[in-house]
Amino acid sequence: MQAEKKAVPRHVAIVMDGNGRWAKARLLPRLIGHQRGVESVRKVIRACNQAGVECLTLFAFSSENWKRPLEEVSGLMSLFMLVLERETAGLIRHNVSMRFIGDRSAFSGSLQDKIAAVEQQTSHCTGMLLLIAANYGGRWDILQAARKLVAKLASGELSAQELTEQALDQELSTFGLPEPDLFIRTGGEQRISNFLLWQLAYTELYFTDKLWPEFDEQALQEAFKAYANRQRRFGMTSEQIQNQQGDVHA
Ligand code: FPP
Repeated sequence: MQAEKKAVPRHVAIVMDGNGRWAKARLLPRLIGHQRGVESVRKVIRACNQAGVECLTLFAFSSENWKRPLEEVSGLMSLFMLVLERETAGLIRHNVSMRFIGDRSAFSGSLQDKIAAVEQQTSHCTGMLLLIAANYGGRWDILQAARKLVAKLASGELSAQELTEQALDQELSTFGLPEPDLFIRTGGEQRISNFLLWQLAYTELYFTDKLWPEFDEQALQEAFKAYANRQRRFGMTSEQIQNQQGDVHA
C-alpha cells in the first residue's frame, strides 16, 4: 500500500496534443476533436483526483496557439467558456479547486470574468488543484518573473546577493506548488513546446502516441506505472539514492 502511494506523482503536467489529427482521421472539423478532448480532460481529472494527485496542470492554450486559423481560435474560446459554465459545479462537488496561469489579459472580457469567477467559486475546495495553462508560455513565465525581480532590485527591496533560484521561483505563476513529478505529452511529438520550462527541470517525461481524445483512465494508469518504474536521482548517483531510501525505511 505504502509502495503504491509513493508511486503516485504529486503534480502531473500534461500537453494534450492530437485533437486535430483525431478529427482529421475521421474527416471531422478540428473543433470536434477539441470537443472530444474535453471528454478526456474530464476522465483524467476524475482519475487523478481519485489517485490522490495533488496538482494537475493542463496546457489548454499556448501563447503560440493564436497563430491558428481564426475559426479554430474563436471555436476554442467558445469551448473554454462552455466548459467553465458546465463543469464548475462538478469540480466543487469533487472538492477540486481551479486556477489559471498565463496572460489572461488577451482573452475577451467575458472569458476573463468567467475565469475569475470559477477561481473564486472553487477557492474553498481543499482537494486536488486543477491548474489550467491558458495563453501560457514557459518563456513568458520566466520573463514576467524576471521583470518583477528587476523592479524589486530597482526599488531596493531585493539586493543582487538575494537574487537566487528561490527568489525567481517565488515570482513564477506556479509559486507554492510542488514541481511537476510527471510530464505527459500525447500525440506522438516528443517536445516540451514552451510549457513549464523552469519547473520541468527534474520532471520525468512521458510521451505516448495516443491522441488526446483517446487518452483515458487506462492510458493514465500506464503513464503512472512508467513513472513508478523510473528512478529519480536529482543529480545524485543510484547508490546515493538507494542509501537514502534505506535511511527512510530504517
Ligand atoms: C492540441 O491539439 C490541443 C489544444 C490546442 C486545445 C486543447 C483544449 C481542450 C482539450 C479543451 C480543454 C478545456 C479546458 C477548459 C481545460 P492539436 O489541435 O494541436 O492537435 P493536432 O496536433 O492533432 O493538430
